[in-house]
Amino acid sequence: MKLLVLGAGGQVGRELLRAAWPTGWQVEGRTRAEVDLADAVALRQAIIDLRPDLVVNAGAYTAVDRAEGDRDAAFAVNGVAPGVIGRAAAAVGAAVIHYSTDYVFDGAGGGGRIEDDPVAPLGVYGASKEAGERALREATARHVILRTSWVFAAHGTNFVRTMWRLGSERPDLRVVADQRGCPTAAAAIAAATVRIARRIAQGDAAWGTFHFAGAPATSWAGLAEAVFVEMERRTGRRPQLAPITTAEYPTPARRPANSVLDCGRIFRTYGIEAPDWRADLSVVLDEATAGAATAAAGGERRA
Ligand SMILES: NC(=O)c1ccc[n+]([C@@H]2O[C@H](COP(=O)([O-])OP(=O)(O)OC[C@H]3O[C@@H](n4cnc5c(N)ncnc54)[C@H](OP(=O)(O)O)[C@@H]3O)[C@@H](O)[C@H]2O)c1
Repeated sequence: MKLLVLGAGGQVGRELLRAAWPTGWQVEGRTRAEVDLADAVALRQAIIDLRPDLVVNAGAYTAVDRAEGDRDAAFAVNGVAPGVIGRAAAAVGAAVIHYSTDYVFDGAGGGGRIEDDPVAPLGVYGASKEAGERALREATARHVILRTSWVFAAHGTNFVRTMWRLGSERPDLRVVADQRGCPTAAAAIAAATVRIARRIAQGDAAWGTFHFAGAPATSWAGLAEAVFVEMERRTGRRPQLAPITTAEYPTPARRPANSVLDCGRIFRTYGIEAPDWRADLSVVLDEATAGAATAAAGGERRA
């Protein structure tokens, strides 16, 4: 198999490049600098030139709050590009694996969202990702869309690194406790992608949309608490954590109160279980703290 990984510089993109692919598979990564998803002509040409068997699109405009004021750019990357990828892939006989988000849902109600639940994004990022799902579905039937949530890794911009940095600098932190979701390690998403790609190579794929996210569900404050427990175990100190409400932490983009994803379909279809994010968190912090003093993860909260 020859694979093209787009958005190769991101959390999931980097994990895809270092994932355990079957021997002999050719995995070509392209960062934003190499292939700009917002440039439809260049994007199509990159796929036509490489003629991969599978395109994995890990590229996206993920700055949720910034997207509120940057609609066109967010829709170009998240809404239009998946259709361009799908059509170019179909033209060269390639399949597509693409990622979407829990933010296509409005977060109302309890329980986990299943794939066929009605979408109702609350903001520009979610709406642009939902548009991208539709564009890909229209472009090619040979697609797998993985909706995931609350992605973290040892590199890149994510909540876990932000909490580690802030928790290292401050004696106490106030963290939102009334939004629930499923933290998911980027490495787990890459591992699930390898298993799906194997089925595609065997000609035994199940196409369509699947939810893939970590378990158990928690809140942002619950995830922060897990980071601080790890911090205390590793450094002997930790900040105090005060749970607050969404109303006490206003952001430009509204976020779903409940974005828990039901991952039953991917288990029934591909035998892929929801990963335990607490175990993955420990592995990620091993890498993040071993590498270097946790670099400032930067201020923006991403999807
Ligand atoms: N992060 C989350 O919590 C989360 C949650 C649910 C779903 N997802 C979805 O999961 C997938 C992977 O996200 P991630 O966590 O790996 O996000 P990420 O770390 O922000 O990576 C996204 C990558 O896309 C690249 N990119 C942005 N604009 C681009 C463009 N015009 N052309 C080419 N590349 C571009 C970025 O490059 P730069 O670094 O140069 O900007 C970055 O390398 C995305 O589809 C995302 O929507 C993420």
